[in-house]
Amino acid sequence: MRILLVASAFNSLTQRVFAELGDRGHSLRVHLTVGDDPLRDAVRRHAPELIVAPILKATIPRDVWTAHTCLIVHPGPLGDRGPSSLDWAIHEGARSWGVTVLQADEVMDGGAVWAHAGCPLPPVGKSDLYRNEISDAALEAVLRAVERFGAGDFTPRPQHGEGWDADDHDRPYLDQNVRRVDWSSDATAVVLRKLRAADSQPGVLDTLFGEEWFLHGGHPEDELGGRPGELVATRAGAVCRATVDGAVWIPELRRRRRTGGSAPFKLPAAMALRMALGDRLPALPEVPAPLSPAEDRRTWTDIGYREDGPVGFLRFSFPGGAMSTAHCRRLLEAYRFASSRPTSVLVLGGGRDFFSNGIHLNVIEAAADPAKESWANINAMNDLVERILNTTDRLVVAAVGGNAAAGGAMLAAAADEVWCRDGALLNPYYRLMGLYGSEYWTYSLPRRVGAAAAVRLTQRAMPVTAVMAHRIGLVDQVVEASPQEFAPRVAHMASLLASTSDVQKRIAAKKAAREHDEAVKPLADYRAEELALMHRNFYGPGEPYHALRSAFVRKEPVRRAPPHLEPGTERAPVPRG
Ligand code: COA
Repeated sequence: MRILLVASAFNSLTQRVFAELGDRGHSLRVHLTVGDDPLRDAVRRHAPELIVAPILKATIPRDVWTAHTCLIVHPGPLGDRGPSSLDWAIHEGARSWGVTVLQADEVMDGGAVWAHAGCPLPPVGKSDLYRNEISDAALEAVLRAVERFGAGDFTPRPQHGEGWDADDHDRPYLDQNVRRVDWSSDATAVVLRKLRAADSQPGVLDTLFGEEWFLHGGHPEDELGGRPGELVATRAGAVCRATVDGAVWIPELRRRRRTGGSAPFKLPAAMALRMALGDRLPALPEVPAPLSPAEDRRTWTDIGYREDGPVGFLRFSFPGGAMSTAHCRRLLEAYRFASSRPTSVLVLGGGRDFFSNGIHLNVIEAAADPAKESWANINAMNDLVERILNTTDRLVVAAVGGNAAAGGAMLAAAADEVWCRDGALLNPYYRLMGLYGSEYWTYSLPRRVGAAAAVRLTQRAMPVTAVMAHRIGLVDQVVEASPQEFAPRVAHMASLLASTSDVQKRIAAKKAAREHDEAVKPLADYRAEELALMHRNFYGPGEPYHALRSAFVRKEPVRRAPPHLEPGTERAPVPRG
């Protein structure tokens, strides 16, 4: 079917709808909304049989939706309406939610229903839910709706009249007056709901040391405490803030924009405060988390290690999947520790949401010398990946529970096995950030998918579903699991892997293969070649990287579809290498 995707952004959900419909053989075009006339032009040009809008902040003009069936994905259950659906659900502590696919008509979110799907709402941030439970439910509903449309005999259900029994919930935009935390009375549970409902955007507006900040992210803390509202500690860049009955960890902060100033962007909280306040920032104790906290502790840590017999699990989770120089170094240190343990299988990642999105573009943007910081960050990332590639005494599994992109996808590709949740999406390329890329991708990627497919993947710069990634060899196992089930499923699979009779044989074979590859071409040569090109990207004249990065971190609106999505780049499956 010829389908036109109309979206406010080529975001994770749009990418997933695009990639999954593409996997099913539909012919797809993407139009990023920038006004009614360009949309009319796109519809005229592509003559779609169906229009699907995975995320839309604008309305579709009447003449378009009367002439074409336009399906709108609404992140709310039957009867729910409004622009802050998921935010309200989290704010009010809903345990389950849903996604509805509606036909566009006069009333916003009021059209007839083509399909809907329910999902649980575990206590995590909004963007995490959006990329995981909501994304899974959206795909279920979109695929069903597209199938129904294709069959031609389905009548969508109007949201009124006989047979309509859902409660109507039409809720307004959730603004900062409602989101604001009252530190003098809000209990930890309430503070967490407010923080999570605004995570990762727009954040909760608050005042710290006399200045306005948006708070991003929120995790409970069960040991620390203090005067309500007071900052009591730092940990790995996050700040801990006391509540009336405990404390919460806040990993990131963003300054409120000042009139005429450039758009501030999110940074690790302690770093943001230090940059803004300098000497005025009161000394806060750094309270590191134990690498293996007791199971009943409620605290925040971005890197953790646990063992179950012959299997080690090195879990990491960084906001936005971004890994700064400091993150990479701490993870490498933890990796060294994990590799010193008597295990035969080491599982990396395995948590919910982003596996990794590569170097930390925000921290780089904030640095006094962004080129120098880019260089430090890519080298720290490479040190980690090199250590993974050179692990020859055990099997390393990358457990990709959420999306991975750029250097983060290559980090996974360095492992012996990549196990990917079926709902995760991979963007294994750097091109859109104006980078050649490193992380030994010129070694790992061709080894997995073949030289030709490696070039196609990195040049075409298209999202790849877990199923497609498996088909081309980028992923070894697709794990059919919900986001919450992923970790236990991986733990089970890893224990089976460690107990197979030939595990030692596999480790020996891997060691021999590494030695062979090293003799053919040392890893150091791959690194040197990649870094020579990255150095040019960072320091060379006329390179687009710095401008692209600045636009990315400041979320400058994309005024037109990225060049690789322009007409003529119809979606087709990535061929085998
Ligand atoms: N550095 C800093 N922040 C990053 C990041 C990075 N490398 N990658 C993603 N993020 C942040 C985004 O700014 C965004 O923040 P927000 O939640 O406050 O809006 C969040 O992570 C999610 O990213 P977003 O772009 O909204 O998700 P998406 O699903 O639409 O797109 C990517 C995912 C990975 C395709 C896109 O984020 C991207 O291109 N990232 C940059 C990858 C890259 O070039 N890395 C550097 C080279 S190794």
